[in-house]
Parts: sequence; structure tokens; C-alpha cells
Amino acid sequence: MATTTAPEDAPSAAKGAKGEAKRKQSNWRGGGGGGEGGQGQKRKRKEVFVYGNYRNYYGYRIDRNVDEDPRLKIFKREWFESKDCLDIGCNQGLVTIGLAAKFKCQSILGVDIDSGLIETANWNLRRISRQDKVAVENTKAHNSSGSLSESCPEKVAPEISNGDISNGNHHDIFRVVSFRRENFVDSMCTSSEQYDTIVCLSVTKWIHLNWGDDGIITLFVKIWRLLRPGGVFIMEPQPWTSYRRNRLVSEVAKENFNTILIHPDKFREILLDKIGFRSVEVVTDKLVGAVTGFDRPIEVYHK
Ligand SMILES: C[S@@+](CC[C@H](N)C(=O)[O-])C[C@H]1O[C@@H](n2cnc3c(N)ncnc32)[C@H](O)[C@@H]1O
Repeated sequence: MATTTAPEDAPSAAKGAKGEAKRKQSNWRGGGGGGEGGQGQKRKRKEVFVYGNYRNYYGYRIDRNVDEDPRLKIFKREWFESKDCLDIGCNQGLVTIGLAAKFKCQSILGVDIDSGLIETANWNLRRISRQDKVAVENTKAHNSSGSLSESCPEKVAPEISNGDISNGNHHDIFRVVSFRRENFVDSMCTSSEQYDTIVCLSVTKWIHLNWGDDGIITLFVKIWRLLRPGGVFIMEPQPWTSYRRNRLVSEVAKENFNTILIHPDKFREILLDKIGFRSVEVVTDKLVGAVTGFDRPIEVYHK
């Protein structure tokens, strides 16, 4: 059995991300040299997530006692409602789907480097959409009978209730949300793709460790190009102190860690002075209600 470590302490490669940037890395550590299940090789192996492509990210990140990702609580409706949105590094798609459901995006595309995570994101989308349909049916039945039913819609999917369905105002997330496997720093943008809102939450460290300063600049320039005039870029950067914990995920990360010149405290200056964003809004310096280690700043840049 493989063991996984808590997100911010581990790195490694997952199935779908393998082969990216010709990285020499192993998905597993401490396995005794590749032999499977041989006698005397019972040392526990650690799966390493070199891109931050954790399988159970939300299990670690979201406190079980909260009803909603605390980041969704502080986001403003106006950034998403009736907007075309992009979520870079969407992992299993729960934030992407949550944004669509809570704020009624016109469209939202989640991209992630890891094809396994994209598969799970699509699975989550189907599951939540199905629950949502059941909730709508229940609401209709409840409204037509005029009585309080036990199968209250909010009880079906409390964490991602899909808008106000009680008055028939249903927003079909299945048509709004889509997912695509993509290495964002490597892919070409097609000229037709444009967004009003781009979200990049807890991804900058992984791009920085894997592609260095060039990767971060590519990320920012590409976001700028993909945004419509007046668009917003919402970023949750990891602090430099957290890079140290992940620098040994691969040889590439180690090398980049040692040569990075643009530390995260310089991102704001670069986005405003070099990339060209008009202004920045610091939504929070330290996310309240987050699990320890995830109480990061959230900033919104206006194009
Ligand atoms: C720590 S997780 C954050 C997940 C999500 N954004 C959130 O905050 O809930 C980082 C995610 O970024 C993805 N990622 C890393 N590098 C990427 C790249 N170059 N292109 C697309 N996704 C990337 C990883 O696979 C992983 O799912």
C-alpha cells in the first residue's frame, strides 16, 4: 500500500502528469528499487505529487465541520455571476463546481495538468449534477403538494447547493462547467478563448518549482492575454516559506528552488508594473476559517 502525505509537505508525479517537461522523477519513494511486493521489501512507499496534484487535497484542506470552502465565502458574486470563467489548476473540480453553483457563472472551465484529476472532476460534475436534478424534482413535488417534504433540496447536496431552486430558478451546472487536461504554462492559447474572470488558487508555487521564474512570468502573461478588458484575476499565492517544504519533490524543483529570483512577495509589483494590471484588491491577508497552513492571502487584479 502506498501512503500519501499531507498536501503541502509532499510532491510527486501522478499518472496523467507523467512525462511533462521531461522531468526525471519517480512517482514513488522508498520502494526498494522498483520490485513489486517482494519479500523483505515491505517498507512503506510515499507517493509524491510533483505538481501539487494531490488526490485528497480537499480532505486535507477543508475542515470537515465547515459547510463550504472558506474561499468561496469571501469571493464576490460580481466576479462570477454571468461571467465566463477559468480555473487554473482545478484539481478535482470542487471549487470550480462550487463557483458555478454559488455564483451562477455563465461558463467555467477548469484545467489541470493531471488527467486523473480531470477524470475525477468530470465524475464529480456528473454526481453533483445528478444530485441537483433530484433536488429540483423534489422541490417541484414539494411545491405542487404544498407540503413540507422530508427530502428537502438543501439536504441533497448542502456543500454545493446549485442556486435558488426553490422558486424554479434552476441553473444547470452540467451545461456551465467543463474540465480539460492542460499544462497551462505549456499550452498555446487560441485567439477565440477569452475570459472575464480567471482563478488561480494555490498553484503558483507548483508552477514556480517546476518551471522556475520563466514559468511564473509565462503564467502571468498568459492570464493577461486570456482576460477581457475589465476582467479580474483572482490569485491565492503560496508564501516563499512553504516552497522549502516541497523543494525536494524532484531534481527540477530542487534546482529551481535554488535559482528562483522572483519570490512571491514580488508578484504584486510584477503584475501591476510589468504585466499591466490596473489595480489590486487585497481580499484578505490571511484566509479566516482555513485549516492551519492554508490561511493564505487572496488578491484580485483588475485588467
Ligand atoms: C495544490 S492544488 C490546488 C487546487 C485548487 N486550485 C484549490 O486551491 O483548491 C494545485 C493544482 O494545480 C495543478 N497544476 C500544477 N501545475 C499545473 C500546470 N502547469 N497546469 C495546470 N495545472 C497545474 C495540480 O495538478 C493541482 O491540482
